[in-house]
Amino acid sequence: MKLLSLRKRMDALEAISHRISANQFDPAKPLTRAEIDELVQYATQAPSSFNLQHWRFAAVTEHSDKERLKAVAYHQQKVVDAAVTFIVLGDLEAHTKAADILGQSVKEGIFDQAKAEELIEMARVMYVDPMVRRDEAIRSASLAAMTLMLAAEAKGLVSGPMVGFDPQALRQEFQIPERYLPVMLIAVGHGAPGNWPRKPRLALEDVLVHGVDWNLP
Ligand SMILES: Cc1cc2nc3c(=O)[nH]c(=O)nc-3n(C[C@H](O)[C@H](O)[C@H](O)COP(=O)(O)O)c2cc1C
Repeated sequence: MKLLSLRKRMDALEAISHRISANQFDPAKPLTRAEIDELVQYATQAPSSFNLQHWRFAAVTEHSDKERLKAVAYHQQKVVDAAVTFIVLGDLEAHTKAADILGQSVKEGIFDQAKAEELIEMARVMYVDPMVRRDEAIRSASLAAMTLMLAAEAKGLVSGPMVGFDPQALRQEFQIPERYLPVMLIAVGHGAPGNWPRKPRLALEDVLVHGVDWNLP
């Protein structure tokens, strides 16, 4: 699959600048399976700790499934109107794949087996703590979610992230196994008129310190 090349770096900056959180989607414009696959292929280029790739995605496109999803997402209409609403999950047992994943990097000559074993041991120790497992699942899935939204923007689509859902009801409705933590929903599709422009952001001086002076407003 062809991914964004360095040559297109400005496109990435444009995607960052133009992306909005959309509420209005054109329900008459579906996405093909190949288009959906491509978005997730881009999303999986996100970084993750130890490259464990904690993210998992369910692409909900069937109308009846979207209606079920909408019911557990506080009836947010965009869940149904968007061509696809992704359920983004974080794998709480991502560390169990460490040997396989790091082994692939060894196979490709990126680092040697000794380095892989060192990393596998570090991950094993870290992931004993269930809080770490949860934090890491949310961190990685969120990075992938953002990457997916930027890919959608670069493709001329719009996206809407949502945490407005009942996680227990979602788990129950779709029989999501315990090991997968619902992180967010992302509606993706062709935009319809009426979307708000980008909301104002805090000023740079409100969010950035140079050095480690924590005297933020
Ligand atoms: C984690 C997360 C959860 C969100 N949940 C919802 C939601 O459930 N419903 C909704 O309409 N917008 C939701 N939003 C969208 C935010 O309101 C939106 O990103 C914010 O207002 C900034 O808008 P902008 O990106 O268009 O500037 C969510 C955004 C994020 C990042």
